[in-house]
Order: sequence, then structure tokens, then C-alpha cells
Amino acid sequence: MYVDAILGAHAEVAELVAWCEPNPTRAEYYDTQVAQRGGPDPLPRYLPADLERMIAEQRVDVVIVTAPDHTHADLVSRTLAAGADAVVEKPLTIDADGCRTITGAVAETGRDVVMTFNYRYAPRNSSLREVIASGAIGTPTSVHFEWALDTVHGADYFRRWHRRKDLSGGLLIHKSSHHVDLVNWWLDDVPERVYASGALRFYGDEAAASRGMTDRPERGTGHAEDHWCLDLEQDPRLKALYLDAEHHDGYRRDQDVFGPGITIEDTMAVLVDYRGGATLTYSLNAHAPWEGYKVTVNGTEGRAELEVVERGSVEFDEEGRAVLDPSATPEAFAGDSLRPVGDRLLVQRHWERATEHPIPEGIGGHGGGDAILLADVFRGPGQDPLGRPAGYLDGLRAVAVGIAANESMRTRQAVAIADLDLGVDL
Ligand SMILES: NC(=O)c1ccc[n+]([C@@H]2O[C@H](COP(=O)([O-])OP(=O)(O)OC[C@H]3O[C@@H](n4cnc5c(N)ncnc54)[C@H](O)[C@@H]3O)[C@@H](O)[C@H]2O)c1
Repeated sequence: MYVDAILGAHAEVAELVAWCEPNPTRAEYYDTQVAQRGGPDPLPRYLPADLERMIAEQRVDVVIVTAPDHTHADLVSRTLAAGADAVVEKPLTIDADGCRTITGAVAETGRDVVMTFNYRYAPRNSSLREVIASGAIGTPTSVHFEWALDTVHGADYFRRWHRRKDLSGGLLIHKSSHHVDLVNWWLDDVPERVYASGALRFYGDEAAASRGMTDRPERGTGHAEDHWCLDLEQDPRLKALYLDAEHHDGYRRDQDVFGPGITIEDTMAVLVDYRGGATLTYSLNAHAPWEGYKVTVNGTEGRAELEVVERGSVEFDEEGRAVLDPSATPEAFAGDSLRPVGDRLLVQRHWERATEHPIPEGIGGHGGGDAILLADVFRGPGQDPLGRPAGYLDGLRAVAVGIAANESMRTRQAVAIADLDLGVDL
């Protein structure tokens, strides 16, 4: 996404100058992609240990961090200290130490950290923000938010580094930081206290054995017939990026979702108190038969309800591969009258009938949201009445709930975010 943006729509304001990437096969893959789009071939390449040298030698203005979650705090803080700004993929970081490292570096250098919270830019999510900000439902008193990940997308987090809490922080950080950020932004409020409950109930070797699933393959490649398996040989891009690259670093992209070593939860419930008085009840399930979400916002004047179906079911193509993108292959999902792909935002004021709030449809990824996000990142945010551009404080407020939730699941107690000492007052 970033490479395309730099070489394409934002070429006159951005220049791709170097890779910082430990895996030579993946760097070569992207050199080829860049060359095919008319960019420099090859780009200068540096190891993560040489980040500072890269920034100095290549006179880097901005480092875009798209490395695994546990590396973000190190890469962002070193980038700032070396004199560049950072754009960082979610989550900002995975634990309180990481938060302190980043807040310390921001305080010392005064440099910029941009969070790319692309969900804010999806038109349906922007529309809900508009409805709440308009006062149509009054002052929000509570939010009920359920997110369902299906057995294609949800399962994928149990195949690679995300499956380890020390590398991803678990789904309440890796995934829910998107969702918590949405609630923080919708309410324009700050989370204060968190209680969470969760467990690994569906994936993992113990859960599988309890359901009589034994003799699982260690990895998916070579087992395309098994729906739970990801066969890297079947997808040229995944093969080139991961299977052909794993001899360098041992990174296996296709581990069995019912194998040993998974330390994250797949079923989670969280209760959050907000400073302004509203309560959030949130759940995340990573093994649902369909994918999407439902949000209800109750206010003093009424209620708003957003329902989104991203995939009504898991569908397979002629080669037996799961179809990932409903917007690219609508025919695969047609004819599902009970759970059609789409979204609906209803607003109902007290004593009135419900009305449907229109959701505009843009062009490109995430309903046109990606294009606006990239313009903000590369050209600087304009005067956005929706307040979508996000900084490191938004990133902190989003992961703070996940960090507190992990602590709450460990201690079985509610956790005040102020007690986590994240290095700055939220
Ligand atoms: N906003 C979104 O919707 C969204 C979607 C997907 C991924 N992400 C985020 O993007 C990041 C990358 O995810 P991914 O699925 O592409 O991961 P990935 O494992 O496929 O790719 C990560 C890359 O980083 C490299 N790497 C590892 N350690 C590094 C280090 N110390 N310094 C520099 N590079 C290093 C790896 O070799 C690999 O090439 C994650 O933080 C993830 O949360 C965000």
C-alpha cells in the first residue's frame, strides 16, 4: 500500500529511498515490485541494527514502520532519536514498556509520530462519528460493540508471530487497538478503567484434542484440501514472500492453528469505563463462520446502530482457496439474502421511528478510506472536520485498553489505566 502510494499517487511529494529489512528474499521481492513500477532498482538495503546509519546515509525524513508489533517501540524510538519522523502501523506497541520508550523518545526529540488508523477512514465508521458529533443521539451513555473474525481471517492470527503474546500482545492489542481507537474517536473520550475475560477455547492443541482433533499436520503447505491449512505453494505471492524466504530466518507463515505454542486468546470480552462517563462492552471472537461487526451507541436522545457484514460466509474458488475480498469477487458472495455483504447505519431518536443514515461509497480499498488516509500521511493532514488523522497519543489510548485487559485477564481484577504508568497522562 505504501510503496504504491509513494510511486504512484504521491510521487511528487514522496520518494522511496531505502529498505530496512532483515530478510533478503523479501527485500528482493519488493525490489522487483518497485522496479516494475518504474522505481529505483535495487533500493539501498539495511539491517534493523543499522537503522540509524540508513537514516543518516540516505537522508531519510520519515521511516514507515510495517515490521511486527513487538519491534515498533524500538524502531520508532530509534527513528526519532536519529532525527527522522515515524509513521507507524497499528498497534503503536504491545506493552507498557513500549509505551514508555515511545513517550520518552517523543518528549526528548519533539518529533512526529503518525498512527495509520485506517478504520477511521472507512466511510461507515466516519458516518457513525458524524451522527454522534451532530448530537442526534445526545450524549453517549454506552457503546456495545461486537466484532466477529471468521475462520479465514481470524484463523490466520494463529499461524504466525501473532500467535505469541510476547510478539503481538494478543488480539486485544494487535486487533482490538483498531476497535478501541474507533470507540475513543467516536466518543471523543479517553478510556480509564478496564475489566477483561478471555481464553484460548477454539484454536490450539489442547482445545483441538478436547474435540477429538488429533494427527494434525505441523504446517499447512502440502495440505490444501484441509480448510484449516494455509498452503503457501498455492499462492505465488505468499510463496515468494514467506516459503521461499524462510531459510533465512525460520519464519513459518503456515503453522497449524491447532498446533502447540499458541499463547493468545481467541475469545474475549472487555468492559471499559470512559472518563466522560460512558461504558463500553466489547467482544472479539476469532472463529466465527462470518465476518463483520455490530455497534450500538446509546445516548441521552436516542440510539445509533451500525451493522456491517464483510463476509457473510467463507466461500472457496475453483481451486479450493478461500475467497478473501468480497468487493473484488462479489459473485462468490451473491445470493445470500440473510447475510448479504454490506453495511447499514440506523439512527433512532426517542419517540421517533428509525431512519437510515446514508453511508457514502468511495473508490478503492476500504470504501475509499485508504486513499484519504494516504493523502493525509504523505501530504499532511488538512482541516478534517471528522478529526481522522491520528498521532501517537491516539495510538497510546488505543493500546492502553489492550494492555490493561491483558493485566486484568492475568489478575482477574479491574485495572485502572493510570496505574499502568504509560509514561504520559492520557
Ligand atoms: N492497518 C492494518 O489494517 C494492518 C493490516 C496488516 C498489518 N498491519 C500491521 O503491519 C505490521 C506488519 O504486518 P505484516 O502482516 O505485514 O507482517 P509480516 O510478518 O508479513 O512482515 C513484517 C516484515 O518485517 C520484517 N521485520 C522483522 N523484524 C524487523 C525489524 N526489527 N526491523 C525491520 N523489519 C523487520 C520481516 O522480515 C517482514 O518482512 C504489523 O504491525 C501489523 O499489525 C496493519
